[in-house]
Amino acid sequence: MLDTSDPLEVGVLFSQTGATAVVEKTQRQAVLLAIEEINQSGGLNGREIVPICADPRSDPRQFRHEAKEMVQAGIKIIFGCYMSSTRRAVLQVIEQSDALLFYPTLYEGFEFSPNCVYSGAAPNQNSIVLADYLLESYGDRFYFVGSNYVFPYESNRIMRDLIQNLGGRVLDERYIPLVPKADDIDRIIAEIATCAPAVVFSTVVGDAARALYQAYDMAGFDRALMPIGSLTTGEAEIAAMGAEAGEGHITSAPYFCSITSPENRRFVAAYRSRFGQEAPISACAEAAYFQVHLFAEAARLSGSTARAELLEALAKVELAAPQGSVKVDSRNHHTFLTPRVARVDAAGVFEIVYESKRPLRPDPYMVEPSEGTSWSISALAL
Ligand code: ACM
Repeated sequence: MLDTSDPLEVGVLFSQTGATAVVEKTQRQAVLLAIEEINQSGGLNGREIVPICADPRSDPRQFRHEAKEMVQAGIKIIFGCYMSSTRRAVLQVIEQSDALLFYPTLYEGFEFSPNCVYSGAAPNQNSIVLADYLLESYGDRFYFVGSNYVFPYESNRIMRDLIQNLGGRVLDERYIPLVPKADDIDRIIAEIATCAPAVVFSTVVGDAARALYQAYDMAGFDRALMPIGSLTTGEAEIAAMGAEAGEGHITSAPYFCSITSPENRRFVAAYRSRFGQEAPISACAEAAYFQVHLFAEAARLSGSTARAELLEALAKVELAAPQGSVKVDSRNHHTFLTPRVARVDAAGVFEIVYESKRPLRPDPYMVEPSEGTSWSISALAL
């Protein structure tokens, strides 16, 4: 039994407008779907979950404002945030009010908050396999382009180390505004044409990824020889740019919509029947979905929705998510996930080219080689 049978209000904090709405809309829908499923199957031991949604407009200050409003209204559980700048803005508020943020987005790592559960990939679960795959498949000369905020800077720092350790080189590293002008993109395309790398590594996020990939397509670069590799360009961004601009590019993530497991087929069918048959479903949406189910299992198990009890119970919960088995590591509040790499095909579908044989322990501080692997994709080959 839970401590009360009153409905439980939870915060849902994903942008419906602004630079990264394209992916955050999928995260919000996934959270709402999971809440509906939980309520339909009896809620949290009879207690209904009521989502309280806000649109923080892809703006860290607005995220902080909305989070403050939520905690002042007594909400202690919040599902939300895409950009790391928004997570950081929200976490201050969450920590001060002893609330709990469930954060379903890949990020740069090197963080721990007692008030956050991280269900997106840490760098050891996506950057390592991507660096290995790109170097082995395309060559060792990289060009970096990112959006101008904290995640791209930090992610590039890690990627540069990985590439250099493998004997590769970073020819240049550039940043464009979150909402770039045509000129900003044109300058990047001209530089790529001049330095002719083997691979472009992009940490450009949101609608700007659409603009970059479309300009890349227009410039006529051959994706079979010189693709863009990314951690952030998922199904939502590919749908926005169109299959023609996306074809041949590479992304690493723990989830792709094309996974054929029964759990994923069921998830995709439920999502599309609720939000439309063409609705794109990204890794960020899948993480948003399963983290609500992780939360619900922990609440049922502990009979509580208080932070400390939930965290203790989460350590005992393992879930068959659409990507495979997931579980929160109680040592660091990050999640065991299954690294994958995929290439976009002519229909705009991610075709999986590498997949870990099992979920990988999260190592947000990159301090230990994972069990059974030497940080090498050869250990992860299908
Ligand atoms: C991100 O900013 N964590 C994608």
